[in-house]
Amino acid sequence: MTDVKDMSAEQAKAEHQKLSHMIRSHDEAYYSHDAPVVSDAEYDRLRKRLLELETVFPGLVTPESPTQSVGIAPAKGFGKVRHKVPMLSLDNAFSNDELREFEGRIRRFLGLGPTEEVAFFAEPKIDGLSASLHYENGQFTQGATRGDGQVGEDITGNLKGVVDLPLEMKMQGTPVPELFEIRGEVYMSKPDFLALNAAQVANGGKIFANPRNAAAGSLRLLDTAITASRNLRFFAYAWGEVTEVPGATQSEVLAQFEKWGFSVNPLSRVCANMEEAIDAYRKIEELRASLDYDIDGVVFKVNRLDWQDRLGFVSRSPRWAIAHKFPAERASTVIEGIEIQVGRTGALTPVARLHPVTVGGVVVSNATLHNEEEIARKDIRIGDTVLIQRAGDVIPQVVEVNFEKRPEDSQPFKFPTKCPVCGSHAVKEINETTGKEDVVRRCTGGLICRAQAVERLKHFVSRNALDIDGLGAKLIEAFYEDGLVRSPADIFTIEKRDTSPGNLTRIKNREGFGEKAASNLFKAINDRRNIPLDRFIYALGIRHIGQGNARLLARNYLTFENLRSSLSQSGEAAGTAYAELLNIDGIGAAVANAIVEFFNEEKNQQMLDDLLAEITITDFEAPTRDSSIAGKTVVFTGSLELMTRQEMKARAEGLGAKVSGSISAKTDYLVAGAGAGSKLKKATEFGVTILSEQEWLDLIGR
Ligand code: IVH
Repeated sequence: MTDVKDMSAEQAKAEHQKLSHMIRSHDEAYYSHDAPVVSDAEYDRLRKRLLELETVFPGLVTPESPTQSVGIAPAKGFGKVRHKVPMLSLDNAFSNDELREFEGRIRRFLGLGPTEEVAFFAEPKIDGLSASLHYENGQFTQGATRGDGQVGEDITGNLKGVVDLPLEMKMQGTPVPELFEIRGEVYMSKPDFLALNAAQVANGGKIFANPRNAAAGSLRLLDTAITASRNLRFFAYAWGEVTEVPGATQSEVLAQFEKWGFSVNPLSRVCANMEEAIDAYRKIEELRASLDYDIDGVVFKVNRLDWQDRLGFVSRSPRWAIAHKFPAERASTVIEGIEIQVGRTGALTPVARLHPVTVGGVVVSNATLHNEEEIARKDIRIGDTVLIQRAGDVIPQVVEVNFEKRPEDSQPFKFPTKCPVCGSHAVKEINETTGKEDVVRRCTGGLICRAQAVERLKHFVSRNALDIDGLGAKLIEAFYEDGLVRSPADIFTIEKRDTSPGNLTRIKNREGFGEKAASNLFKAINDRRNIPLDRFIYALGIRHIGQGNARLLARNYLTFENLRSSLSQSGEAAGTAYAELLNIDGIGAAVANAIVEFFNEEKNQQMLDDLLAEITITDFEAPTRDSSIAGKTVVFTGSLELMTRQEMKARAEGLGAKVSGSISAKTDYLVAGAGAGSKLKKATEFGVTILSEQEWLDLIGR
């Protein structure tokens, strides 16, 4: 065999390719089929040779190289599936009082009288992964993961191996509808999880931290035969796109699911009112340890489907359902240090570095300390023994300090007044509306601050923003460090600028970033040159503008030019534009100020110009284009009797209308309830169409 040192680059590359291929196929045989074809010694020899090649020719190290991973590569190459009905998540309640508040919100929204009871359907919250299953004329045709709720991955083949997933719906009860999308949770039982890990230990395979991870890992395997061997199970609890709903309540529909051959969790039951629901929670919690699968709470759903319909959704979760999670798991450990992280908006967030400890099966080594006040209030110090808790996916928190174990020489923690990254002053701003000092200390460095600049870029490419595949936090940091990407527009010009050796090449070598990875990345970037307005607004990372507010702005301004030109005005026009912004139902002063400030900052103007030279922002599309009120502006006034104001508003927005708080020349409709006063007068002056409640409901087809 030629000594690696004597090889030319081409020879090395060719041998590297051959070896990589051989190792990958041995990996596949060993890990995926439990059927190795070479001896361990031979396998080790191949890997050693590969490593030698990469040591002498570092350019050969790519993320795909077998030296960069053990075992089979994570499943790639699943097709995408767009969910016609988005897959939502659930709001959480942490106490019985929060459950009662949830009921109160429902009653107010629906305008229920004091004697009318709201029945709930209580179901265990299964700790697994949600999946969507399409049935056409009763045949299973396609299955997908939840993904980001809008687009998931096509895992049809893997789902076919799930134990209690019928490939064909049974003809029982209500006839099978033409199209029925069942939704539910894929999970692994505790005994199957333990058996899998035992087998993995014996085979030198990957050990899973908990049944949920094991289910996730098993579901996304490229080899569907292995998925089938993992004994995954499924509970049905919801539905998506359907031609017909087989019942008038959640309980009726789930009873039909069972007749069709799906597993419905046996602990689910109807509760006549909230007090019964609270009791159901207690009973399920008592049973938790004895179940042979993990649950992490109880989900409550309004049982009547007509009410579910009317209640609708708020951004990503339904108004008609809530999850009451079980209390967090706790453990005691020592704080080894307190580190200050600087976020996208300059907020200084203290993080406790902990002596690693296992809490509920997961090793925890960091906990959030929230802010300066929290540290002072709990008197948290480095060296303290503390009680930490972890609830679901939430970042662990420090509950309390054990003062008896405090070291004698301990000192109160001094929160920095300068940014630990750029050295600028870090201040607590005065809230313009309340006049009070903010609890959060912020770095005043803006984009001069490396941390803020990098965090903004990370946010810009993140999943709910531009969602650039393969451009993760680590790569953004590397690109920033090398000066290759300093502002969002730079992301779109890397490819153009990647002509002279020296820029990307340097990073390629350091990050193990090969030709293939680079071309994939450029493709992912180019795929995002057309971006919907709401995503774009969210991506800008303006303070207080989360996904909900971004959508609200998109719906009201429709195009980016509109939004930008309106908010970059000066003088009197600026006043009018500001008033219009505040007029949007749901936008308060703090949010409005942050937006105006953003658009009037010179650096941001430049950033936007650069970016617009590279990408196209698609105009906001009203959710229902054929609705007669899409894009129209409506004002509600007076006391409404046919529906609560909140429901009127939600319905109008759902049909693509903008709801405003005051009358202007831009108002299309005024819906006047009893006792309408000055707005009615003003509407007449502006020639706005005035409708009664009933006329409005007729117009929107209700
Ligand atoms: S209902 C529109 N019911 O919890 C309602 N979700 O935190 C959508 N989950 O993504 C969800 N058990 O993965 C619902 N009985 C249950 C559930 C359940 C577990 C999961 C599901 C969802 C997540 C939301």
